[in-house]
Amino acid sequence: MGNSVSSLSNRKASGGSLEVPDFKKPSLFQRSKHSLQFRKRSKSSLSLSENSLNSTRHGGNQVVPGNNNNVNYRHASIDSSDGHSDLSLQSASSGSDRSPPHSRKNSQPLSSDGSTTNSNVSGMPSAPLPEWANHTRRCDDGRTRHTCESAPYMLPNDLTESDRLDAQHYLVRFVFKGNYNVQLDHEAKLRILDVATGTGVWALEMSHEFPKAEVYGVDISPIFPAEIKPSNCHFQLCNILDGLPFPDNHFDFVYQRLLVYALTPVQRKQVYAELLRVLKPEGFLQLVESDGIVYNPGPEMERINQLSLDTSLRHGVDPREVQTMKSGLKHSGYTSVNSFNIALPVGNWGSKAGALSMQNMHGLATIWLKGEVGRMDQDACDAALVKADEECEQNQSYYKVWLVVGMKPSMQQQQAKDAKEARKLSASSAVPQTTGRRSPTSPI
Ligand SMILES: C[S@@+](CC[C@H](N)C(=O)[O-])C[C@H]1O[C@@H](n2cnc3c(N)ncnc32)[C@H](O)[C@@H]1O
Repeated sequence: MGNSVSSLSNRKASGGSLEVPDFKKPSLFQRSKHSLQFRKRSKSSLSLSENSLNSTRHGGNQVVPGNNNNVNYRHASIDSSDGHSDLSLQSASSGSDRSPPHSRKNSQPLSSDGSTTNSNVSGMPSAPLPEWANHTRRCDDGRTRHTCESAPYMLPNDLTESDRLDAQHYLVRFVFKGNYNVQLDHEAKLRILDVATGTGVWALEMSHEFPKAEVYGVDISPIFPAEIKPSNCHFQLCNILDGLPFPDNHFDFVYQRLLVYALTPVQRKQVYAELLRVLKPEGFLQLVESDGIVYNPGPEMERINQLSLDTSLRHGVDPREVQTMKSGLKHSGYTSVNSFNIALPVGNWGSKAGALSMQNMHGLATIWLKGEVGRMDQDACDAALVKADEECEQNQSYYKVWLVVGMKPSMQQQQAKDAKEARKLSASSAVPQTTGRRSPTSPI
């Protein structure tokens, strides 16, 4: 798409229409042929059609294979770093926000027939799983969260959250007119990676659309399917901050969506470098992020914005940092970096997408309002959401969503760059003849 960047962020979004750049040239960005269609996915309860957008809020009938309500998960006391009193992990059958399965079986990579294997999906021997992989913790707000201390991610990992992530997937796919915005060859044997795959919905759809490809998804919480999935789709438990369990130059396409609450600024840079490592030369990276801020807020919505910021900052995460992804990728060595953002309406004023994004806002706002900083009870939370809804309608509030694409330099580009840097280095370290050269007799 060259430099054609569409930014609606500096003006008031209007009329509920979503503008996605109309890419004239078949270049880095390409519309999906399935644009504007909501396709059915294997979890039939979660499938959407354009007609059903408004009515979608699925109950707890999501299939999470391995989530056997009869299983008694290991009890584990975990220290809380967020001020929540953590309880021992209970059976997934207790409470409406059921814990995801954290049994060792589910944590291990599974072969395409669903059996547990002892090697990871890339064929390399896997290290024993770290302790955090066996636990989850229940917080004061009744939600469960991961227990990996080095990962600052603070959103829940329960079924309520899985439902939100799935609905959000359909929304993002709708606004960006497909699951990917780079050119991908359906006939090639691609390797595709979904970083922090969540419920795995994107990876599942990609493995269906690209039957000749191998699609891999990794996440710190095992909320992805373990068994019911296409044979070319593989999931693995992994903390990306420990590095990805894949060799260098391995993937044709890497996709990472909505890690806004997962990375400190330093970690984000580390992750850019790690994704560059696993990409093949001339492979593409696509990032999709929102800073989670509702723009044009009223007073109640502004209070929720502030709560989200305060909660994130407590964990060292600044969601506003995603606004600089384009320069972040350039500094990390990616080439052909392109970016644009769209304004996503929040509220019925923005038609069906606005209504769905309002539901998404409710899910997120509830986390902030009842969480470690807000600490509201359900009634206060409900009242806040009613006010926030009214304000969003009146003010035509909206989210901003960024899409950034970058390419790993080709071998030749990389060699030329390395040679240039080597020349620079040797020029700067060369000792000037007149002043720096030591005479054979000068003291050391
Ligand atoms: C907001 S969700 C987005 C999920 C998915 N990318 C999507 O768009 O539907 C963020 C995901 O990042 C995962 N995550 C957070 N920190 C992580 C880490 N350090 N390593 C791996 N996954 C992580 C969470 O478990 C969660 O599933």
